[in-house]
Amino acid sequence: MEDFETYFQQLIINEEGGIRFYSFDSKKYSNTGVALKKSMPVFYNPIQEFNRSITLIAYKAFQQISESDKNFEILKICDSMAASGIRSIRLFKFLKKPVQIMANDLNPLALKVIQKNIELNNEIVSKSDIELFNEDARFLFEDLHNKRNYQSIIDIDPFGTPNIFIESAIKAVNLNGLIGITATDTAVLF
Ligand SMILES: C[S@@+](CC[C@H](N)C(=O)[O-])C[C@H]1O[C@@H](n2cnc3c(N)ncnc32)[C@H](O)[C@@H]1O
Repeated sequence: MEDFETYFQQLIINEEGGIRFYSFDSKKYSNTGVALKKSMPVFYNPIQEFNRSITLIAYKAFQQISESDKNFEILKICDSMAASGIRSIRLFKFLKKPVQIMANDLNPLALKVIQKNIELNNEIVSKSDIELFNEDARFLFEDLHNKRNYQSIIDIDPFGTPNIFIESAIKAVNLNGLIGITATDTAVLF
């Protein structure tokens, strides 16, 4: 794996949903006809902007419904495959505060990019607003379950099939919680 500074120098500043953030230059790849691949470090797919916008609306509606429950305390979200962190940062900006957000990714470079992206948006979000984790999402879900730290919402957005994450995610989500699943390639669902 290349060192972070070498990698970081290749990133550009992108914009989505009013958030400026570092990501690799996906246009550079699309202009050359090279498809986005999971091997590209710290994945960002601009085509998924609409998906992320729908996520924001759905989770905000869920937050409003949850607030009407007398036992509701705080919305807890686990963005279990956060990549650049754009989804977590957009969620933090859009949702009513207080809200607890965990951003996790298996790729350690992703965590460093998320940190940079939080710093870049320091007028909107601070380090203490999004807790970072560098785990296989399935281990993280098991850990949340073991600690009885159930989440209101678990967001799953893997490369390929999401099926392998669902069983452990169910154990980590509240009884009346929500699991948001993205599968870019619907073929992997069958
Ligand atoms: C499609 S990208 C996520 C995109 C991101 N949710 C967004 O909206 O921009 C998938 C991410 O999952 C991460 N990943 C792959 N396998 C994982 C695993 N087992 N646990 C946690 N993260 C994983 C990859 O490193 C990658 O950053």
